[in-house]
Amino acid sequence: MYYKEDPKFPENFMWGASSAAWQVEGGVAEGGRTPAMIDINSTKKKPYADNSIAADHFHRYKEDVALMAECGFSSYRFSLSWSRIIPHSDGKVNPEGIKFYNGLIDELIKNNITPIVTIYHYDLPVWVYEELGGWRSRKTIDAFEHLCKVCFENFGDRVKYWLSLNEQNMQICYGHWLGTSVGCTDWEREKWDINHIMNLCHAKAVIRCHEMVEGGKIGPVPGYVPIYPKTCNPGDQIAAMNAEELTQKIWNDTYVYGEYSNFVKKYWETHDIHPDIRPEDLELMKKAKIDFISVNCYRSNTAYESKIDSERQEYGLNKFGIKGQMQWPNVPGEYALCTNPYVEYTDWDWEIDPQAMRYSLRYLWNHYRLPMMITENGFGANETKDADGQVHDTARIEFLRDQIYQVGLAIEDGCEVIAYNPWSFTDLLSTGNGIKKRYGLVYIDTTDDELVNCKDVSELSMKRIKKDSYYWYSKLIKSNGKDW
Ligand code: BG6
Repeated sequence: MYYKEDPKFPENFMWGASSAAWQVEGGVAEGGRTPAMIDINSTKKKPYADNSIAADHFHRYKEDVALMAECGFSSYRFSLSWSRIIPHSDGKVNPEGIKFYNGLIDELIKNNITPIVTIYHYDLPVWVYEELGGWRSRKTIDAFEHLCKVCFENFGDRVKYWLSLNEQNMQICYGHWLGTSVGCTDWEREKWDINHIMNLCHAKAVIRCHEMVEGGKIGPVPGYVPIYPKTCNPGDQIAAMNAEELTQKIWNDTYVYGEYSNFVKKYWETHDIHPDIRPEDLELMKKAKIDFISVNCYRSNTAYESKIDSERQEYGLNKFGIKGQMQWPNVPGEYALCTNPYVEYTDWDWEIDPQAMRYSLRYLWNHYRLPMMITENGFGANETKDADGQVHDTARIEFLRDQIYQVGLAIEDGCEVIAYNPWSFTDLLSTGNGIKKRYGLVYIDTTDDELVNCKDVSELSMKRIKKDSYYWYSKLIKSNGKDW
């Protein structure tokens, strides 16, 4: 549809930004926190991802919230560190962990910022892996349910928007990258068991939230990447649909309908995969009715037909921020991905495609008819301070303006969208490129070399510098999306 005027945002629309505990907090050995598997995984990543200090939000959260308030935020999406809240297998709650998050939540509320809280964002405690068997073990479901109960009990009086697991689809599709596959010997098979266990954890979170949090709402956080067919060759269209199913739709259907789709059941049958799914599991999944879908959307992908006898090619992510290094995957008989000549690319070869945002919201709304909030969207870039000590991130402003405009158009199209929280508020660690791949509206004055080589954080500046995008975003959100 074509509109003559700029799109309008609803009166109570929530504007904010997003983060995750292990990518922003630091303080990994403080306040009673024990190690998480991601700590180990991230120190192995090259060039950098070490999360010992990250953005030092653990020590500076008050300063960060003050900056959010000054910017005009009405929401902030962050995650809880499981091993900060429950550091050991005895299940005892760490009062210092609760105190830290209470402090953050209270600070947000004092500043009229609605907390949107992710229960799990990639940081499985080492004790869950070593003593319970991690995501491969059903014991993890009880431990996760206990975590949920502790969170709802302690924070549910003030936190009303909850997110279960961040990007379960990506944790399964990119298990080696995100560390989900640690300990697996036959990942292609085991990942479906892990996925099922995650589905049960998600279901427990949904059910407990509704039981324990008065007025509480909860949803999943799929990573959504719309897939376009490369050409109008019908084979390319089917390939795009296959890619859509195998990287996201399988998950979204399960969350919404509480059951596995025929497509995934058929996929398992043809690949001789037999996840351990019990009748009581299916009952549980059916009971877990989500209130909204939380959407992480950065980019699009393009697919073409893959012949069954073609050679398998794994996804080779661009890890260095120099254009042209992405290796596109080929899944024989299902789909292959390729570059799209109609869009620009970031230095990490991610498509810059604002209309992917409108497409995603339309697609999810058309399929599921649930309210949506955007919990991630953003521009990862190589950035440094200019001679004047400021960060003039014009490209990020353009990126955000175009993306937010498309959110507005999707709302005009009839989609119910209640919040926009781009990734990220401050610069923080990317999943594998340290702080070098910067996403923030606020610059953190440090580098990966400094973070890795210092003795402790007191040696570093870690100064918060508002980027040009911070000022631009502030004007936009204070006008509720009118001042572009
Ligand atoms: C999302 C994740 O998929 O993408 C975040 O939820 C992540 O944790 C973000 O940081 C950006 O990806 P990357 O690889 O650039 O950090």
